[in-house]
Amino acid sequence: MKIDFANLQLQYQTYKEKIDSNIQAILNKSNYILGEEVQILEKELQNFTGAKYAITCSSGTDALLLALMAIDIEPDDEVITTPFTWISTGEMIALLKAKPVFVDIEPDTYNINANLIEKAITKKTKAIMPVSLYGQPVDIDAIQAIANKHNLKVIIDGAQSFGSTYNGKTDSNLGDISTTSFFPSKPLGCYGDGGAVFTNNDEYANKIKLLRVHGQNKRYHHRYIGIGGRMDTIQAAVLLAKIPNFRKELIDRQRVADQYNSELSNTFQTPVIRLNRTSAWAQYTLRVNNRDNIIAKLKEQGIPTSVFYPIPLHLQECFQYLNYKQGDFPISEGASKEAVSLPMNPFLIDSQINFIVSSVKLANPI
Ligand SMILES: Cc1ncc(COP(=O)(O)O)c(C=O)c1O
Repeated sequence: MKIDFANLQLQYQTYKEKIDSNIQAILNKSNYILGEEVQILEKELQNFTGAKYAITCSSGTDALLLALMAIDIEPDDEVITTPFTWISTGEMIALLKAKPVFVDIEPDTYNINANLIEKAITKKTKAIMPVSLYGQPVDIDAIQAIANKHNLKVIIDGAQSFGSTYNGKTDSNLGDISTTSFFPSKPLGCYGDGGAVFTNNDEYANKIKLLRVHGQNKRYHHRYIGIGGRMDTIQAAVLLAKIPNFRKELIDRQRVADQYNSELSNTFQTPVIRLNRTSAWAQYTLRVNNRDNIIAKLKEQGIPTSVFYPIPLHLQECFQYLNYKQGDFPISEGASKEAVSLPMNPFLIDSQINFIVSSVKLANPI
């Protein structure tokens, strides 16, 4: 049986007619950069998320950079974040010559542990940047309370969590600024690089709109040092073709997760989603203590797996200058050795899920 991890090919075949015609329309008009489709997409994203502003950009990484620049992160500022994430989260803080300050995660949700944040705050702390890992929103009430008490900004790295909710609000509508990625394999993905920044703050929104076009406020007049961070119109056209199906896709991801849970939760540490939240299920991640063995056995059956993430950020070569060491964040380090993600996409059907589940059980005899 052929199992695909994200199944982008089946996704394309499913929406082919609309995607092809949307792309063809752009080719016919040649409005490749910030065309009207980008504005239409931004309206759709505002409606979907409930955020006052949705500003599209060139990637989830650039969305983080724009958010950090909008709140004026400067050299020597400190930004608190998680070490158990994709490199971009810490990297964009460091790119601005600010200091990423890591705080360990919760063992069950893999998101930053809000109880540990206050200890990491210093006079230099400017912001907290939690990550809604694997698709589940962070503990925003606790994080926001700490931020309010210490006068810090909150930027949510929602690259993996577009479409998730916290007390009924979308993850994109939490914090001072929230970001997402439309990388192809993300819950809502385009067919290249893309991202977005969300905020309810007029000042940040106006600044981000300028920052993404080199800080330009009118042609050849540059108010800020910015970046070339626009979204291509073709990517907007792809997203516009996919958005009408996105709510159904979220329901299907939940269906797959429910089936995995009901079959695997007796044997494995399956994902824990807090009662007041829904996940966008970017990943379905198990915790296992014989990971290499399970991955190899599943591979023999033609079942792909992924490891997010095998090396936490504090142990990355590029962050050696921060002087963290092995053992500083034991929960993240444990997860980096034991987390393994199973195929997750809305197109998985019962027979495939059953095959994956029985293969996982066989690969891990009790
Ligand atoms: C947590 C997290 N942050 C940031 C990013 C960066 O997004 P992009 O690949 O669109 O630049 C990703 C993408 O993998 C991510 O998973």
